[in-house]
Amino acid sequence: MALIEWDNNLSVGIPSLDDQHKQLIALLNQLNDAMKAGKARDIIATVLKEVIDYTSYHFSTEEEYMDKVNFSGTFTHKIEHKKLVEKALSLHRDVEAGKLMVTIEVMNFLQEWVTNHILGTDKKYTAAFSEQGIQ
Ligand SMILES: [Fe+2]
Ligand SMILES: [Fe+2]
Repeated sequence: MALIEWDNNLSVGIPSLDDQHKQLIALLNQLNDAMKAGKARDIIATVLKEVIDYTSYHFSTEEEYMDKVNFSGTFTHKIEHKKLVEKALSLHRDVEAGKLMVTIEVMNFLQEWVTNHILGTDKKYTAAFSEQGIQ
């Protein structure tokens, strides 16, 4: 079973960014499957790194748009992105060093931050982006 199922509640109303969120969720589901299948630590670490790399790419897309439209919430949104990436990188370091196992708790943490960020923070840019023709 998938860890997260994308549904319309998660839509930010900007198709290109919804697609990126879907891709991010697909990667998190892959990580969850690898964890449940008991894959080796190095494989888990590699999938986790893919999640982080895609997250960074996605965050830079959003930040580019926020800068482009002079979005008023840019500053706090960028801080949130930075904290999320730092936290995920520190998880990755600990997994690689054998100090941390990717468990259901870690997956729940990742699931929560993705959904909370989309619902609580990303959705704030919808009006500003649509008004400026960002799709
Ligand atoms: Fe964001
Ligand atoms: Fe996002």
